[in-house]
Amino acid sequence: MKYQKVVDYIKELYGNQDFTPLSVPVFIGNEKKYLNECIDTSFVSSVGKFVDRFEDLVAEYTGAKRAVVCVNGTNALHMAMMLVGVERGDEVLTQALTFIATCNAISYIGAHPVFIDVDRETMGLSPVALKNWLEENAEVKNGVCYNKRTGHRVKACVPMHTFGHPCKIEDIGAVCQEYHLELVEDAAESIGSLYKGKHTGTFGKVGALSFNGNKTITTGGGGMLLFNDEGLGKLAKHLTTQAKVPHRWEFVHDHIGYNYRMPNINAALGCAQMEYLEEYVLSKRATAQRYKEFFQNETEVEFFTEPENCRSNYWLNVVILKDKEAQLQFLQETNDNGVMTRPIWELMNRLPMFEHCEHDSLENTIWFADRVVNIPSSVRMSSNGKVL
Ligand SMILES: Cc1ncc(COP(=O)(O)O)c(C=O)c1O
Repeated sequence: MKYQKVVDYIKELYGNQDFTPLSVPVFIGNEKKYLNECIDTSFVSSVGKFVDRFEDLVAEYTGAKRAVVCVNGTNALHMAMMLVGVERGDEVLTQALTFIATCNAISYIGAHPVFIDVDRETMGLSPVALKNWLEENAEVKNGVCYNKRTGHRVKACVPMHTFGHPCKIEDIGAVCQEYHLELVEDAAESIGSLYKGKHTGTFGKVGALSFNGNKTITTGGGGMLLFNDEGLGKLAKHLTTQAKVPHRWEFVHDHIGYNYRMPNINAALGCAQMEYLEEYVLSKRATAQRYKEFFQNETEVEFFTEPENCRSNYWLNVVILKDKEAQLQFLQETNDNGVMTRPIWELMNRLPMFEHCEHDSLENTIWFADRVVNIPSSVRMSSNGKVL
């Protein structure tokens, strides 16, 4: 078997279990205590102290002025699209190398994704490719950006911090400013990841996090919107809670609202998980360092490391194989031998819903699709239940 050494190493790293999963949550703090509190007080649903506390904890941790909880990352992104004014028929520039939710959120509005290539150093949206596409295809009239060929308004740009590695968000922001595009960050995978010391998801007008079960911390299902603009955060809170006008007993709503608020019971989990977030990120970074050292001695398998000036949470560790054939063999051998590994998502422009969408050459995107494999990345635990 070609990748026997890799299989053995990963198994040993994770305590020689029969099966090593890709990414599983860790509950070693106050989770049960806070959940019991919800049940004992009957505050399990849309009202309760954990909702506000979770928002405050995430705002403080990320440095955002305001954080607003959602039921999941997908509806956080949907809400973000609405908040920046994306409308039916608009075009939104994003990556083909992303999880489906980024594009679904754009589509819920009736807008169309346009796929821009990613960088080889980050796996995230390339500011150079973004600028090239805009120079070739867009014009700004009266402060509004249009696609010259389709005539559609180009309203926003949604880069994604792929597998937790920050993309070149400052340069992307500068291009967006030049072309009057709203910047929304899909930071679903990057809680704990910093670009030049600043938390991902806080560079654009809105950032979206996910707390799905496979993420660095989880609330079962959950998401969070990040804002630097208090007013926009306040509006998000209103719209995600059915747009109800506050009153002691009346049911008056002043807008089409959404039931996107996270229940207290999920937020309770979130509060407990936040108490360990930094420890988990440091542990994941230490695991990445172990992988880096191991793969330095491997020819034909390269370990993907964090981009310059960044601190990555290494949500899912990435190895790059030499070509598609090697990628398939690596997937086959690891999965056959109890080590869960996965290829990158099918590219968005290859899915039936999005195959008609515009895209650039996607040269690096395709290069990654043919080579990337995610390897086990859970927080490692000692046999006595301590974070390693
Ligand atoms: C890049 C990206 N965007 C959005 C989401 C959607 O988050 P959720 O699963 O919480 O809806 C995820 C993860 O699940 C993701 O990886």
